[in-house]
Formats: sequence, C-alpha cells, structure tokens
Amino acid sequence: MNNKFYITTPIYYVNARPHLGHAYTTIACDTIARRHRMLGDDTWFLTGTDEHGQKIERAALAAGKTPQQFADEVSNTFRASWDRFGLTYDDFIRTTSERHKIGVQALWRKIRDNGYIYTGTYTGQYCVSDELYVDSAEPGALCPTCGRVTETVKEENYFFKLSAFQERLIQLYTGQPDFIRPETRRNEVLSFVSSGLRDLSISRSTFAWGIPVPDDPKHVIYVWLDALANYITALGYGSNDTSKFDKYWPADVHMIGKEIVRFHCVYWPAFLMAAGLPLPKGIMAHGWLLFEESKMSKSRGNVVRAETIVDVLGMDALRYFLLREVVFGQDGSFSFDALVQRYNADLANGLGNLASRTLTMITRYFKAEVPYPSQAARKAGDNAIADAARKAIADFGSHFDQYQFSRALEAAWGLVSAVDKYIVENEPWALGDKRDEENRARLATVLYTSAEALRIVTALAHPVMPEATAKIWAQLGLGDVKKFDLTQLRWGQLRLGTKLGEVQPVFPRADKSAIERMQKMEEQRNGSSETSVGTGASPVQPSEPGSSARPVSARGGGEARQPGATQAPPPTTSPAKPVAAAAISDGKISIDDFAKVELRVAQVKVAERVKGADKLLRLEVDLGTEVRQLVAGIAEAYSPESLIGRKVVIVANLVPRKLRGLESNGMIVAAAPEDGKPVLAGFLEDVPLGTRLK
Ligand code: MSP
Repeated sequence: MNNKFYITTPIYYVNARPHLGHAYTTIACDTIARRHRMLGDDTWFLTGTDEHGQKIERAALAAGKTPQQFADEVSNTFRASWDRFGLTYDDFIRTTSERHKIGVQALWRKIRDNGYIYTGTYTGQYCVSDELYVDSAEPGALCPTCGRVTETVKEENYFFKLSAFQERLIQLYTGQPDFIRPETRRNEVLSFVSSGLRDLSISRSTFAWGIPVPDDPKHVIYVWLDALANYITALGYGSNDTSKFDKYWPADVHMIGKEIVRFHCVYWPAFLMAAGLPLPKGIMAHGWLLFEESKMSKSRGNVVRAETIVDVLGMDALRYFLLREVVFGQDGSFSFDALVQRYNADLANGLGNLASRTLTMITRYFKAEVPYPSQAARKAGDNAIADAARKAIADFGSHFDQYQFSRALEAAWGLVSAVDKYIVENEPWALGDKRDEENRARLATVLYTSAEALRIVTALAHPVMPEATAKIWAQLGLGDVKKFDLTQLRWGQLRLGTKLGEVQPVFPRADKSAIERMQKMEEQRNGSSETSVGTGASPVQPSEPGSSARPVSARGGGEARQPGATQAPPPTTSPAKPVAAAAISDGKISIDDFAKVELRVAQVKVAERVKGADKLLRLEVDLGTEVRQLVAGIAEAYSPESLIGRKVVIVANLVPRKLRGLESNGMIVAAAPEDGKPVLAGFLEDVPLGTRLK
C-alpha cells in the first residue's frame, strides 16, 4: 500500500510580491513532493496566500485599493509565479475563500465548545508587521522579532487559554524530538514555553478585514489563528466533504522560515490540542536567504526576483543552486557570482559534461546503443564506480530525508566527479580508435559504467532539477523519468541495447555576461514600480542637483548623482494634456502632479553613519506597514542617536537608488536654508505612522 505524504509551505502575505525568499521555501517543498511522488507516495502539496489582517488592510489602503482587490491582485501574482516556475502544488489556498472561512469558523467553534476561549481586554503592544502581540512591553517598545516600533492596542478581545497547554507542549517537544527541526529551533521553543505561557488574544475588534468570530461579528479572528488553520481548511476541515482531511491530515511536514517558528510550534499545536485534532508530524524551519548581508525582504528593498535567474540560467539552475549552496536550516547568502560559478562548475562542467561526453561516445562508437559490459574486460576501477553509485543512492536518500539537501547533492556529485576521473583515466576516446576485440570490450565496459552512473545521478537529481534530468533521461533512451520508481533504483539496471535519444547539451556554459544581464534586469525591475505592490504611482523624477526646483530634501545630501539606469526618464510634455503642459511651463504644477508625490509619516528606528561619507546617515524608518532603508545627507545636522524614535516625513514612492553601495528607498524631507544645515520636517501633534500628507 502507498504511504501518504502531506507537505505545506507557509501561506504568503499578499503585501509583497513573490521574491526569491518565497520561492526558496516553495522550491524546497516542490523538490520534496517530487521525490515522494517518485517513491510512490500518495503526495499532497499545499501552498497559498495569507490575505487578512491589519497589515494587508493598511497596505491596500496605501495602494488606494480595497483589501479584496489588493489581495486578488497579489495572490494571483504568487500563483502565476509558481505556475511559471513549474512548481507542482496540488492545491492553492486563499484565506479569503469561502472554504477557508467555513473551516476557520468550525475550528473556532470546536475550540470554544471545548472550553478554551473566554472574553477579556487586551491592553498592550502589537506589531502589525508580524501580526504579533508583544506582551509585557511598554508603549514605543520595539518588536522582538522584526525590531519595528510596536503600536499600543486596547481592545475587548477573545482569549485562548494557551497557558493550559504548557505542560503538554513540553511533553510534545521532549517526547518527539523530531517535531521541531533543526535542533536549535527546538531548543529555542522549549526554553520559550518552559519560561511560562500567557493566554493569547485571538480576536481583533478595531478593524474589519478578517473572518468574523462566530456569533459575534464585531470581532474578526486573529490573523494567525485564521492563517494557521489553512493547513486543515484546504483539506476540507469543517466542510461537507472531509475525505481529503481524513486521508492526508496530519501533515507530514510544515515547512517554514525560522521567523515564524513560534506561531507554528507553540500556537498551532495548542490550537489543535484544544480542538482535539491530531498534530502535524513535524515542522522544519529553514534559514533566511540573505542578499547583500541582510535578510532578503521587501522592506529592506534588497529582493532579487526568481524570474530574473530563470530567464537567464533556467529554473533548474536556480533550484540546484538554492538547494546545493545553502545549508538547509541555516542562513545562506545569495549572489549572482556564486550562482554562475556553481552553475558552471557543477552543471555545465559537471553533470552536463558527463552526459554529453558519455552519450556522444556511445552514439559514435556503438551506433547509439547501450553496449555490453563484458566480464572479461572488467577492472577494479569499474567496480569502484558501482560501489560509489550504491553509496550515492544510500547517502542521497538519508540526507534528503533529513532535509539536508546540500549534503544529498554533494553525495550525488561525488559520483559525478568519480566518473569524470574514471573517464579521464580510462581514455575511452583512445580505446575507440582501436578496432581489436579486447579494446572494444574495454571501451564497452567503460561507457556502460559511465552511462549507468549517469542514469543513477539523473534519477536522484530529478526532484531537484526536473527539466534537465528529464532531457538526460530521454537522451539515455529511458522515456519519462517522472514515471520511474525510485524505490527500485539499483546499480546495473541500464539495459543493454537501449537505443539512445538525440544527444543535445543540457547546461550550456554561462559566461560573465550572464551576471551582468541578471544584474541589469534586477536594476531595471527595481527602477520600475514593480517592487512596491499596487502603488500604481509612476516614479517621480528627482530633480538635477543645484537646480532651482530642487526639493528641500536631504536625500543624497550633496553627493554626486550616479548616472544610473534606474532613474526614470525626464517627464515629457504630452500633447494630450495641454493644460498640465502649460501649467508646468510657467513653473506651476497641477494638483494631479502633486498627488503623484507620496509623502508619508515615518519613524526613525535605526540611524548610523555611513563609512567614508561625512554627510550621510543610513536610516531605517517605519512606515507602519513596512520598514525601509534610506540614505540621507543630514549627518552634519543630526547625530544618529538624536534621530531614533523621531517622526519624520518621507517621499515614499521614489525610485530606489544606491548611494555608497546602500540602497535608498525614499527621501527624507527637510528644509534646506541657503547656507545652513538641513532641518527635518516634523509634527507638533502625534500622527499615526504611514499617514499620507496631502
Ligand atoms: N503569512 C505568514 C505565514 C503564515 S503560515 C500559516 C508569513 N508570510 S510571509 O509572506 O512573510 O512569508 C514568510 C515565509 O516566506 C517565510 O517563512 C519563508 O518561508 C519565506 N521567506 C520570505 N523571505 C525569505 C528569505 N529572505 N529567506 C528565506 N525564506 C524567506 O509569514
């Protein structure tokens, strides 16, 4: 009988378009799902989008859309990306769907009817970006997870008796050590829970973008309870048809990034225990993809889009790189240089070269038919390859099952190098020149051995690189690799006389221009409004330094402008808009033009000097829905310490640009007296973060 295997990704927030960080998790899950399918398991792979909550509501507002319009748009972008990348999810759940709502409300009722929900008042801090209650913190405190400024919340809420589950959770972590992986995360969770659990507020009543609490629609269900439930609502929990739930639940693994461990490892099992439902078998937290040394994220403005890599090197190259280069569970840096280097070394020169020379020689010397490896011509080196292949099969499987993809691939590529060396030592091309029987038998054995090793690496690597391995498999004359039963993979199954397919290169070598192309594509995409979701605003043209129209801002602070391709072209006067054109010509602008400039209130969270630039400060400012990095020329007027916590005005929809290698994502607004130092714009009254100036 087949085993069932159920795997999930986190459902992604729709306030940001998909980037490489999101693709990373989804690709890892896709790879695991593909391997389980090849092992014959009845596999179910779920992904989707997380669309409710205050963060999304605010992001929609900022984009001038209704939350539903906004969520539809971004959710579609996620799905389209996953489809374009050929990711084989079986279901895509949206938390705004009816099936999800029904399931969440059913879960709430179950927990309530079991006596684990009560009403109370929450007074404390809340981080909108993480949708996290930050208990026992003072107003103005920073979120312990993301470091953004928390907001004070006082609300009539429903509470969940989380404290009642402390002991059972500890028993779970200690009795089932593999429940949380890797071990570092397990230890963190264990110590968090052991230090005491407080009850958790599980509803909000000051905004409406969520699923109504059953029988009390003034409240919406806390977005994390709503979101976590996706793992069961997608299977039909709470609906009339629970056949999938009965078949696939509990999940075999929830794959997540390390920043959402608490929600998955503490709250989720506690909710399930309260509802009397089985717990997932395991939770695996991977590390972050870093770019330019910090977590790749929209708010830091340092995202790379997977599309860029796919367009230049192909999807398989990206998949291989992510899983081979980064130790799964730990943080890993992404760079275009490392990507191309790895691609050339392991794929173009490694597997690609092994495939092309082995298959080309079989085509040339044996009329494209797999030759007979004669016993008489056998040497020790042939047996060593067979042993190496057996070991690669075993090691690949055991590392892969532990989600140690880089070690699994290392094991398979150990075989690739061994065969490479074997081919060089045995010089089949020299044997091919000789026509006598002995040399011919030896040639047949060497090429059979190489082709069989190639077949084994190809089968193992198929879940990681589905397209390229499918091509190699077909070139080996073996048909559809997806249909191959991986449980049967053994040395020596390549049948004699198998007719090869047409031999074609699978991984053409990439040269330096590939790096430049990818970098350029990213610069251009960052220069377009594609980075920020749904603003719809056209990029504002920064004025020339020294021109009379120069805004009184400190952005760049007198640093020479870089002639970057990221700048938008100068506005052209359109004959279709004579009024605006006329207005611009006498130095005035229309209200529509002013409305294009998105001025917003932000709070400085981090300020530090930029090395080697006397005038520049690097700032991180909180806009309520996101934190951004800006580089501002105000270092001569303000010390970094004096700015922390200060509310400022920023131009929020400027095209990002780089100053001293740092991306500046907006411009801080200041008065610029003729010969004096800049003076920051500010407010006498308190203003919520993110408020727009009009
Ligand atoms: N909506 C919640 C999850 C709810 S699950 C019930 C959420 N969404 S998110 O859009 O912020 O996505 C988080 C996930 O995206 C991470 O847990 C991780 O899987 C992936 N990543 C986003 N950026 C990443 C990196 N820079 N590096 C690696 N993975 C990252 O949290």
